[in-house]
Amino acid sequence: MAGETVTIIDNRTGEQYDVPISHGLYPNYGAYIPAIDLRNIKNGEDDFGLLSYDPAFMNTASCESAITFIDGEKGILRYRGYPIDQLAEKSTYPEVAYLLLFGELPSKAELDEWSDELAEHAPVHENIKKIMDGFWHDAHPMGIFASAVGAFSTFYPDAKDVLDADNRRLQISRLIGKVSTIAAFSYRHSLGHEYIYPDPSLSYSASFLKMLFAHFNWSGYEVDPVIERAMDVLFILHADHEQNCSTTTMRVVGSSLPDPYVAIASSASALYGPLHGGANEQVLRMLAEIGSVDGVSAYVDRAKAGELRLMGFGHRVYKNYDPRARIIKHMFDQVFAVTGSNPMLDIALELERIALEDDYFVQRKLYPNVDFYSGLIYEAIGLPTDMFPVLFAIPRTSGWLSQWQEMLTDSAQKIARPRQIYVGEDERDYVPIEKRG
Ligand code: SDX
Repeated sequence: MAGETVTIIDNRTGEQYDVPISHGLYPNYGAYIPAIDLRNIKNGEDDFGLLSYDPAFMNTASCESAITFIDGEKGILRYRGYPIDQLAEKSTYPEVAYLLLFGELPSKAELDEWSDELAEHAPVHENIKKIMDGFWHDAHPMGIFASAVGAFSTFYPDAKDVLDADNRRLQISRLIGKVSTIAAFSYRHSLGHEYIYPDPSLSYSASFLKMLFAHFNWSGYEVDPVIERAMDVLFILHADHEQNCSTTTMRVVGSSLPDPYVAIASSASALYGPLHGGANEQVLRMLAEIGSVDGVSAYVDRAKAGELRLMGFGHRVYKNYDPRARIIKHMFDQVFAVTGSNPMLDIALELERIALEDDYFVQRKLYPNVDFYSGLIYEAIGLPTDMFPVLFAIPRTSGWLSQWQEMLTDSAQKIARPRQIYVGEDERDYVPIEKRG
């Protein structure tokens, strides 16, 4: 509550320091002290003052944010206060992107205008196709995605005016509109197929599916409504997740005020890693390596021996079941009724069953995360595993942009520049090469 403090006694000097405790919405989940106050704790006049040392930011809040709330112990996820299960059941991805970016659910007129904006900006400059053509046929789509999004920086020099709200809105609409097109083009490039243009008469997700799977000589391509809804829900689930690795990248890179295209390219690069958004691709490779339900137990033993990690398991924040994984798991029956089941599902379910009973995982609070089941759906609708991280990047673009915009408009923020603990050599003189060992 107001006026709460923590008292620190420096046993080196006997000095006592009262440091104010503040908190966000929930006093018992996010109470904090200003790290900069630690610098007042000195061991003499010429002392720099205390730093807090927190590799990988295990216990450091980098910002105040009103966008997404996660309670890792209880497995709670809310976008602007709305529970993820309600949004997954009742909303659409464009509506959720609007909510994340502007803070409120849109009116019908606002949603129509927003959807039209995204459709208007979905087409990409024809030169992007030339950039695509420069990649080998087996280039990883995530490498293409990050490169193409970064290339947009050269197409829209006006995007550098990041402190102008109207300009931000234009770039935000452009990026959310275009990332699905870039993703679809990267897939078509890998097949050697012609590029299909976005269809403004369809929903965001339906237009994306058509760009992926339609062919010119198959003009009657119809998007299955069950698959369209499944894609939309997957986009909703992946849209934002507070200060994860790639979002932190967006905030750090964005803090030096470059245009949002290169910042998104940086975030996509962070997401690409197998410990982050690249995990969904690795899950399917893991299930294929396990090969059968009978192979699960031996594989789990290898994870327990520290030989490997169960991809799609564990989370820095969730020490309970990831609510997104639970929602995806409930989608299987509907999707597989259309696509046919995925044989890997039985292996995944057995892996989850064994892991959730085993002390190694229970003690470490390792549960399935969003990446554990998503790939089973992506594969069932016909996408290759290397496209899975790209499917994560498309919706996360709205989360990255929401966090970027919040950072730019937060007066407490400035260019990100952490300190360090120097553990290297003390001053020493240069040694001419002839005198070296
Ligand atoms: C995402 O942050 C976000 O919000 C991310 C995300 C989002 O929406 O943006 O939710 C998306 O990235 C989900 C996570 C996808 N990654 C994976 O599924 C990769 C596999 N999982 C891990 O490598 C790991 O669990 C992390 C990276 C997700 C979290 O790692 P932490 O919090 O740094 O935990 P840790 O590495 O310190 O592990 C703690 C212990 C260790 O054992 P001990 O040293 O205590 O003996 O748990 C073990 C680890 O070896 N462990 C695992 C494990 N994850 C952690 N052991 C086996 N399999 C695993 N998956």
